[in-house]
Amino acid sequence: MQIFGLLGNPVGHSLSPAMHHAAYSHLGMDAKYITIESEVSDLKEVISGAPKNGISGLNVTIPFKQDVLSYVQTDKIAKRIGAVNTIDFSGENPIGYNTDVAGARRSFEHHDISISGKNSVVLGAGGAGRALAFMLSDEGSHVSIVNRTEDKAHSLSKSVPNSTGYGISSLPNLLIDADILVNTTSVGMGTDISPIPKAFLHPDLVVMDAVYRPLATRLLREAKESGATTIDGVWMLLYQGVESFEIWTGRKAPVSIMNKAVRSQL
Ligand code: ATR
Repeated sequence: MQIFGLLGNPVGHSLSPAMHHAAYSHLGMDAKYITIESEVSDLKEVISGAPKNGISGLNVTIPFKQDVLSYVQTDKIAKRIGAVNTIDFSGENPIGYNTDVAGARRSFEHHDISISGKNSVVLGAGGAGRALAFMLSDEGSHVSIVNRTEDKAHSLSKSVPNSTGYGISSLPNLLIDADILVNTTSVGMGTDISPIPKAFLHPDLVVMDAVYRPLATRLLREAKESGATTIDGVWMLLYQGVESFEIWTGRKAPVSIMNKAVRSQL
């Protein structure tokens, strides 16, 4: 039996086990996906001990995406983002990847939305904001990074080509000419609050929300009411998992089966 899993704290409410188990059962794989709730002081031992415990791959989530950098070799993308969400143990040394970047890109591809030449606004400059800003820039978009703590937006924009950092007060003006808006903050998670007043939304926007609890966030509901195109938070979660699955197994992931499995949990 192959064993995969999720390393984080907390991990109890994760949708990843259901998503990956659906893939294993659809493909008839003898595999399971476990959750490992760890302390930062145990990370080294968990990672170095994974292969002898029969673990082939691990996802990494909050709060360890940066901490695990000390215990794995990173691919180019993970190194640039400075965070790892996927570890592959199939080689001699564990390799760390960041599939949030490809997950974000594939979410746009799935909806047939082109990024090249577009004006994008990324709200938030944390881990998810970094992944989105690099992806949108790599795909040829100009990226405005807007953050409550303005300094963080400026410092991220220094490492993301073709990007500019701003404080929140610039948001209304930036949105006038924006084609793509992504919320990477936690605003709206578990509450009916939107990070962006409805008056700033318009029909020419594609609005993506990284928040997926609730699935229909206030931001996405108001975006739809304004005539904008919307991409909900499950797509990024789904496609980062799809990418991890494909790295670990070398097989094409059953995307629609995994999508259904995640959505059935929400
Ligand atoms: P993640 O890894 O999920 O991106 P994070 O690294 O903790 O999480 O980043 C959270 C982001 O949400 C930050 O950009 C944060 O803004 P600050 O840098 O100013 O803290 C943003 N954020 C969180 N709560 C917010 C709020 N109530 N209003 C605006 N931005 C908020």
